[in-house]
Amino acid sequence: MTKGAQMYEGKAKKVFATDDPTLVIVDYKDDATAFNGEKKGTILGKGVINNRMSNLLMQMLEQNGVPTHFVKELSERETVVKKVTIVPLEVIIRNIAAGSFSKRFGVEEGTVLKTPSLEFSLKNDDLGDPLINDYHVLSLGLATKEEIATIAGYAFKVNELLKAFMLKLDIELVDFKLEFGKTADGTIVLADEISPDTCRFWDVHTHEKLDKDRFRRNMGGEVEAYQEVMRRLMGE
Ligand code: TMP
Repeated sequence: MTKGAQMYEGKAKKVFATDDPTLVIVDYKDDATAFNGEKKGTILGKGVINNRMSNLLMQMLEQNGVPTHFVKELSERETVVKKVTIVPLEVIIRNIAAGSFSKRFGVEEGTVLKTPSLEFSLKNDDLGDPLINDYHVLSLGLATKEEIATIAGYAFKVNELLKAFMLKLDIELVDFKLEFGKTADGTIVLADEISPDTCRFWDVHTHEKLDKDRFRRNMGGEVEAYQEVMRRLMGE
């Protein structure tokens, strides 16, 4: 596998071409941003942790029937993934009220939701990733009705699998964000990453935050929090 030219640089990852037109290499950075890039910083070692963690979780999901972009871990920070066209939606599932859900609906953070919720945001930093409904998605031609149903089905399945998996590590899955992509033949697969950047993880007993909220909210201890989740995942 030869690493070719850089195709794209996002806020947390770079994407490189390979000698195979169906595959790309993602390279995880330590850069951290919040509020659509307004707050910038570094979480030392984050790229290494998120690469390994996301790959472990994607493999667990794949084994349980959720198709993903994962192909092969290349190094500490680099992974070969299927080349996809990202569906420009942030797919957010929530089990417990927190963050923008608490703010929008006036529900105290930590309130257990009666049933898991799903929402879409339009992936567009300039617009502040606005909330978008199914009708908007159809009107804008971002996905078909069938694709929306497939994405929602996978997202809820990921929730059940990931919730159970994290609970064994004494971690509560509060909420998370997924992104999906389409391969050349139109197959929808789970893409992007699953990590403390994209999930809210709370310790089951203490409710301590073990995720990027520590950075977003200037709480400190983000390096240790990412390391702690990784430690529990590796069974160390
Ligand atoms: P929110 O409560 O701020 O809307 O966040 C919901 C979940 O989505 C939370 O687990 C953090 C994650 N998230 C991202 O992965 N990227 C983002 O840009 C935002 C705003 C949230």
